[in-house]
Amino acid sequence: MQKARLIIDRDYTIGEIDPRLYGSFIEHMGRAVYEGIYEPGHPTADEHGFRRDVLELVRALDVPFIRYPGGNFVSGYTWEDGVGPVEERPRRLDLAWTSTETNEVGTNEFAAWAKLAGAEVNMAVNLGTRGVDAARSLVEYCNHPGGTYWSDLRRAHGVEEPHRFRTWCLGNEMDGPWQIGHKSADEYGRLAAKAATAMKWVDPTIELVACGSSNANMPTYPQWEATVLEHTYEHVDYISLHTYYGNASDDLGTYLAKSLDMDRYIETVVGVCDFIRAKKRGKKPIHIAFDEWNVWHHTKDQDADTKRNQPWQVAPHLAEEPYNLEDALVVGCMIISLLKHADRVRIGCLAQLVNVLAPISTETGGAAWRQSIYWPFLHASRYGRGTAMDVRVQSPVYDNSIFDAVPLLEAIATRDDEAETVSIFAVNRSQDGVLPIEGDLRALEGYRVVEHLVLEHADPKARNTVDAPDTVVPHAGGDARLDGGTLHASLPRLSWNVIRLAREGA
Ligand code: AHR
Repeated sequence: MQKARLIIDRDYTIGEIDPRLYGSFIEHMGRAVYEGIYEPGHPTADEHGFRRDVLELVRALDVPFIRYPGGNFVSGYTWEDGVGPVEERPRRLDLAWTSTETNEVGTNEFAAWAKLAGAEVNMAVNLGTRGVDAARSLVEYCNHPGGTYWSDLRRAHGVEEPHRFRTWCLGNEMDGPWQIGHKSADEYGRLAAKAATAMKWVDPTIELVACGSSNANMPTYPQWEATVLEHTYEHVDYISLHTYYGNASDDLGTYLAKSLDMDRYIETVVGVCDFIRAKKRGKKPIHIAFDEWNVWHHTKDQDADTKRNQPWQVAPHLAEEPYNLEDALVVGCMIISLLKHADRVRIGCLAQLVNVLAPISTETGGAAWRQSIYWPFLHASRYGRGTAMDVRVQSPVYDNSIFDAVPLLEAIATRDDEAETVSIFAVNRSQDGVLPIEGDLRALEGYRVVEHLVLEHADPKARNTVDAPDTVVPHAGGDARLDGGTLHASLPRLSWNVIRLAREGA
């Protein structure tokens, strides 16, 4: 049987992991907000209408950062609609999702919910239908302490203390023709620079994310990033990347290899950022905010049908992906890709969090449950903090029509010096069987295996449902063991693995 080898040397590191790498995203889309996090009348709803059962599942995920309110939605959003007395808020057509937006939940409600969830809010401004004025007044409303029109309006709305949102997105996917107010790179870059300047004049402590490409197949990629950064380099801190992978042709070997595309995407955009920095003779590096990533392929036709045939619903069922084990493995590989680039990718947002492309699903009036993708995200978010380690992997490979030399083993490790723990995250892409691994754990003397978690299923298409929510769940029955400084483990066929090590006595 072919074996994979890895070397983990304590001193070979990639970089510190920004906690925001484990971010997520809630958009006013489908049933993410309404009937997702917010459902007054639900048996578990609190006095503000937020579902406690959903909140509990979110809290368990340990998500430190949540992007809001969109997404495509933000490009048509009038943020003033969502503040002040709820009974006076207008209902609006949401052109992004062919839905009706009631505005029952807006900035202050979401901020209150995010606080309960233990997350900071990553706010986005509308650079589709709006511009500098709306962006700077939103920063003033949210972050200025008081004594001015917008900050006093917030106080009048019952929020005395400023939210002090730290990270702001300058619009969303402005390269996409589907975007309300879609722009060329020059048009967007100019507007983003002007909006950024005014926003930072209001609050110089904020960090800003410029829109990069919607995915690496966009015809304007990667010139888009170069042009946008030509305009915005001095004003922004991050450029965003988005991607959703799918398996429309049901070719598992190719699907599982898509994180290699993600690696290349990140590395290309890092190259563009460094090119612009060199051109500008600039000092600061631009970092990556991978602020939408996930798999999305099961519901695309159904979503198009809903928008066409049942338009303008409140909280329509959109993008309610039924995730299976295969999807969870791809999500695991994507997390590993983010960690492998933790020196430059500071922000990551699993898109999204509840009902829409989500690790958490709800029944209206009923239960909330975990999808298969919940598990790799939870493991990484819980056990993958600290420093990303530069793991050297030697693995058997496979080829297919799209990718050459796809390693059967995808792996990364993280080190938490305070807790004196090391976590190894590994996916076995093999459809044929177990992959034995042997790890040379240099300079990790005195460590022991705490547990070896495994997510696997005999049927790769198996998934969780409201009636069978524990079909795809991890078990702690992995066989990892340390023999001297050598780690031995057998990774089951098509599995996500977490091998947790701790110093003896820690
Ligand atoms: O996350 C769903 C949608 O995907 C977002 O609104 C948009 O930014 C992307 O195309």
